[in-house]
Amino acid sequence: MPDKRENVVVFPFMAQGHIIPFLALALHIERTTNYKITFINTPLNISKLRSSLPPATSIHLLEIPFNSSDYGLPPNTENCDAVPYSLVVRLLEASASLRPVFKRLVEGIIEEQGGERPLCIIGDIFFGWMASVAEELGVFHAVFSGAGGFGLACYYSIWLNLPHIEIKDDDDHFSLPDFHEASEIELSQLPLTMSEANGRDSWSVFHRKYLPEWTKSSGILFNTVEGFDRTGLSYFERNLNKPVWPVGPILLPIENRARTSKEGELICKDWLDSKPETSVLFVSFGSMNTISSSQMMELAKALESSNKNFIWVVRPPIGFDINSDFKADEWLPKGFKKRITESKQGLLVHKWAPQLDILSHKSTSAFLSHCGWNSVLESLSHGVPLLGWPMAAEQFFNVKLLAETIGVCVEVARGKSCDIKHEDVAAKIETVMSDCEKGKEVKKKACEVREMIRNAMTENGSSVKAMDEFFEAAKKTMRSGTGSKRHVPESNVTVVN
Ligand SMILES: *[C@@H]1O[C@H](CO)[C@@H](O)[C@H](O)[C@H]1NC(C)=O
Ligand SMILES: *[C@@H]1O[C@H](CO)[C@@H](O)[C@H](O)[C@H]1NC(C)=O
Ligand SMILES: *[C@@H]1O[C@H](CO)[C@@H](O)[C@H](O)[C@H]1NC(C)=O
Repeated sequence: MPDKRENVVVFPFMAQGHIIPFLALALHIERTTNYKITFINTPLNISKLRSSLPPATSIHLLEIPFNSSDYGLPPNTENCDAVPYSLVVRLLEASASLRPVFKRLVEGIIEEQGGERPLCIIGDIFFGWMASVAEELGVFHAVFSGAGGFGLACYYSIWLNLPHIEIKDDDDHFSLPDFHEASEIELSQLPLTMSEANGRDSWSVFHRKYLPEWTKSSGILFNTVEGFDRTGLSYFERNLNKPVWPVGPILLPIENRARTSKEGELICKDWLDSKPETSVLFVSFGSMNTISSSQMMELAKALESSNKNFIWVVRPPIGFDINSDFKADEWLPKGFKKRITESKQGLLVHKWAPQLDILSHKSTSAFLSHCGWNSVLESLSHGVPLLGWPMAAEQFFNVKLLAETIGVCVEVARGKSCDIKHEDVAAKIETVMSDCEKGKEVKKKACEVREMIRNAMTENGSSVKAMDEFFEAAKKTMRSGTGSKRHVPESNVTVVN
C-alpha cells in the first residue's frame, strides 16, 4: 500500500551547515503537520543521518547515487567538511551535475505514489538548478535558507554584482547597487572566496550561473524572524518578485543533537552551576572554524585579563590538523591553563560543547561567536548578547546586521588572519558584560529579541503563520493547473502528431 499522505521532498547541500538546518526543518514539519517527508542526500551522509535520527521518526531517508571519484574529488568525499577549502567549489560543481539523477529520483517517488506528485520540493540555496527540475515535473518548489535574510541578501547581491572589483585603489568600502539599505560594506568584511573573485574564478562562475535560477522557484523559506530581519527579506521580494516565508527559528531539538560526550556535558553544567548568574562568557567559533596561532594567544590573554568567567571551546590553530589533540602548553600563553583552572576563572572544552545547554544556563552572560546564523538564533532565543568574530561566508554581514541595526552585538574582529590586540578584545568583553551604558543596551535589546522570537513561534505568531502560508501556497498550486495532473514520466510518453 502506498502511503497516501502528501510528500514533502527536501535535499540540502552536503555540508554540516546545510544538513543540520534541513534536518531541523524536516523534524519540525514532521512534528507540526501530517505530511510525509523524504530527505535526500548522498549515501555516506544518509548512513550518518540514519544513525542519528530518533528511532520513531517517519522521515524517509533516500540516497542519491554519488561517487566522488567521478568528479576528481578524493574517494568517499561527500561532505564539504571533509574536503580542503580548495576543493569545496568542486563539490558544489559536482552537486550541480546531480540534476538528471535527482529528476529520476523524484520520478521514482511519483511512480511509487501511484502517479501522485509530491506537494513540494524544498531545495538548498546552492541548488538553483533544482527549480527548473521541479518545473519540468510540475511540482511546487521553494528554496530553504539556513542563513538569515540580511546576510543572504548581501551574499546574493555581491555575487551577482561583484561591486568590489570595480572600486578605486585607495577605497576600502563599497555599496551594493541593488541593496542600498545595507549601507557601506568594507573590504575586510568579505570572505576569502569573494575578495579573491574576479568574475572568472570557479566560485563566481558557479554562483552567477545558479543563484539567478531562484527566479524559477516559487519562493524562499528563511530560518529567521520577520520582526528583526525585514530588510533582507524585502530585498528578495523586490528583486526576485517572489514570496518569502520567514519561519524561524527552527533549531535542532536537544534530543536530536549529536552528543559527543555525556561526561563533557556534566562538566560544563557543574561548572556553570558553581558560577553567579550572568557572569560567564561562552567562546566558540563553531565546529568548522579555528583561528590563527597569534590570534589564539591574544584571545587567551584577553580572556584572562578581562577577569570574567569563561567557557572556551578550543581547537588547534590554523595550520594544524583540526582534529588533533590540543596542545595548551604550545598554543596558549605559558601557565595559562593551570592558572585559569586553579582559579576556576575558565573552563577549556575540547572540540565540542553542549552549546544549547550553555546558552540556556542562567550563569551565561554573553557569547563570543563566529555568528553563523544557527549560533545567532540559538543565542538570541535565550536573550544572550553576542561578541561577533565572523570567519566565513555571510557571517560578516550577520554581524553587520546584529551590531549596526539590531544592537545585540559588538564586533570583536574579522576573519582568520586579522591582527588583534588583547587589550581591545578585553575592552569589548568588558563593554558587553559590564553595566555600562552600551552593556545595558545590548542586554536589553537581546531580551527584546528573545520576546520577539517567542511571539513569532506561538499560535498565530509570524513564523507559525508563514509556515502555514507556505503549505497553503504549495497546496493551491498543486491542486490547480499543472499540479492536479498526474505525472507521466517522459520515457513512457507516446508522442502523437
Ligand atoms: C556526511 O558525510 C560525511 C562523509 O563524507 C560525514 O563525515 C559527515 O558526518 C556526514 N554529515 C552528516 C550531517 O551526516
Ligand atoms: C567509485 O568509483 C571508483 C572509480 O571509478 C571505483 O573504484 C569505486 O569502487 C566507486 N565507489 C563506489 C562506492 O561505487
Ligand atoms: C489565533 O487566531 C484564531 C483565528 O483568528 C483565533 O480564533 C485564536 O483565538 C487565536 N489564538 C491566539 C492564541 O491568539
